[in-house]
Parts: sequence; C-alpha cells; structure tokens
Amino acid sequence: MKYSDACRQQIEEVLTSIVKNRQPEGLYKPVEYILSIGGKRIRPMLCMLGCALYDKSKVDQCLYPAVGLELFHNFTLLHDDIMDASEMRRNKPTVHIKWDDRTAILSGDAMMILAYQMVTRAPAGNLPKVLELFNRTAIEVCEGQQYDMYFESRMDISGDEYLEMIRLKTAVLLGACLQTGAIIGGASDQASEALYKFGCDAGMAFQLQDDWLDVYGDEEKFGKPIGGDIVINKKTFLLITAYNSLPEAARKELLYWLEKKDFDRQDKIDAVRNLYDDAKVSDTARLLMDQYYSRALEHLEYAGGTDEIRLELKEFAYQMMDRFR
Ligand code: IPE
Ligand code: IPE
Ligand code: MG
Ligand code: MG
Ligand code: MG
Repeated sequence: MKYSDACRQQIEEVLTSIVKNRQPEGLYKPVEYILSIGGKRIRPMLCMLGCALYDKSKVDQCLYPAVGLELFHNFTLLHDDIMDASEMRRNKPTVHIKWDDRTAILSGDAMMILAYQMVTRAPAGNLPKVLELFNRTAIEVCEGQQYDMYFESRMDISGDEYLEMIRLKTAVLLGACLQTGAIIGGASDQASEALYKFGCDAGMAFQLQDDWLDVYGDEEKFGKPIGGDIVINKKTFLLITAYNSLPEAARKELLYWLEKKDFDRQDKIDAVRNLYDDAKVSDTARLLMDQYYSRALEHLEYAGGTDEIRLELKEFAYQMMDRFR
C-alpha cells in the first residue's frame, strides 16, 4: 500500500464523522451531502504528503488541518455553484439546486467555520504560521473569485489578467495545503516555500485543465455538465485566447453568441466550440498546462525531504493532470 492510500483513508474517516447527527438538520445535511458524494480530496492529500515529505512521525498532527483545508474548499464550492449557476457537481445536483440558495449560503458559512476549527488544531508551536498562511490564502481565494465575476462582463481581458485571477482563486490554495504540511513537518522556510511554488504551479495547470475539461472533457469523469462555462460566458483561458486571436469575422460571431440573451444551450455550446477549434485554443491551453506542470516539478526538486515521498508527490501531481490524458 502506498503511503498516500493510508492518508486518504484517515481523511475520509474524519470527514464522515464531522457533522454526523448534528442539529439542526437543515444546516448540516447539506454539509454531509457535499462531503459524501465524492471529490478527489486533492487538498488534504497534498497537506499530509507535504508533512510526510519532511517527517512522517508528524503526519498525525497534520490530519485535522488537512481536513480543515478540504472543508474550506467545499465551502467555496457551495458558494461558487450559486455564483456560476451550476446545477451539477460530482455527478450530483449542487446544494443550491437540491435545497436552495439560502441553504447553500448558510451551510457554506458553517463549513468555513468548521474549517477554522480544524485548521486551528495544528500544533501550538506551528499555529501562528499556519493561521497566517490560511488567512492570507482564504482572502486571496475571495479576491480571485471576485475577479472571476468581474471578468464575466468584460471582454478586454489579457492572458496575464486571467492567469493572476486563477492564481488567486485556485492555485494559492494548493500551494498553501502543501506549505501547511511542510510547516507542521518542520521544513525549513526555504523548503516550504519551494513546496508552495510546486503547489501553485500545479494549481495553475489544474485550473487551466478544469477550463479545458469544461469544453472537451468526459461528462461522467468530470462530474459537471460539459459547456457550463460557455453557457454563462465565463472568461476561461479558452475564451480569452479565442477572442484575442480570431480574425475579425470569427470574433464577431463569438461576440454574437456572448451577447445573445435567448439561445438554445446546445446550439451555443456547439457554435462556440467550433470557434475554439478554428482558433486552435485547445492546443494552446494544453501547451501552457504542460509548461506549468513542468515548472511545478522543477520546484519540487528544490523542496528537499525524502525521495520516497517526493516520488509520491510527483505521482500525485501526475494523477491530478491525468484526467484527460
Ligand atoms: C474544483 O476542484 C474547483 C477547481 C479549483 C477547479 P476539484 O476538481 O479539486 O474538486 P473536487 O473536490 O475533486 O470535487
Ligand atoms: C473554481 O473555479 C474556484 C473556486 C471554487 C474557488 P470554477 O468555478 O472553475 O470551479 P468549478 O468548475 O465550478 O469546479
Ligand atoms: Mg467559479
Ligand atoms: Mg464554478
Ligand atoms: Mg470550472
């Protein structure tokens, strides 16, 4: 059994025990629901592996903070699905669809508080650093989500603006998960910074891939309906690149679909995907993904720790990027 398999099991056990039989049901059932319908558990796994890289004997002390980070992630998903009008996640109806917006907001809030309760169970000596990192990251995620919303109504978005937005909304959390583990594992500042950069660059590749999968992925494996981003004019890397590179006539056609208020969902998805194909944005996105992925692995080499766990982290990063290969 790989080291990470044991970590995964521990994470699932804590996650299932968290809100069992808590009252009132209306608050906790949606939490139980979102935690029970799957999820790759990337963030807590990165946290525990980040700790094991430096000191396996400290990994037990990392379990609750790791679970806290997964709770934080799930809190963002409950609110994100309202903001993105997403009806499906993990192949199941989203919380705001199964219940309603008010429930998703409040159960999301409760999950954020539960996340704090878990993260602050980090060993007392590590707590100042862990909490500082968590707070900084959590506010960055909000900033990224706000840019993401701003961009929905703007067309003049540069590639760099997009990359900064996904760094904030997605990448920093993966970096922070690894760094939290590294801090608890007793890594040097230099090593824990390198691990943070590994997570951030892997996170950039991961969000680029999420955008890509939203158009070209397999619905069952992705767990979300294909084309959701196209339908709501989400400024993904694919849309921005297509808009900035298509010739005038094709760009006009893209704008026509973006501005059209009344449309058949599948017609819009097909038309926009055809324009993406004309602009060859799939290849451009895959290339950039691979660049971030390679850069991530370079940072990992500077993070030190044991060869055994570094290899597992490498395999884990590969699996994260393997959803479409
Ligand atoms: C979804 O994250 C949100 C993004 C940052 C793309 P994941 O793809 O890790 O979601 P789960 O937790 O596995 O469902
Ligand atoms: C994920 O962005 C970022 C956060 C949830 C903070 P997306 O909106 O692309 O994630 P999905 O596609 O809904 O999982
Ligand atoms: Mg979103
Ligand atoms: Mg979303
Ligand atoms: Mg997405």
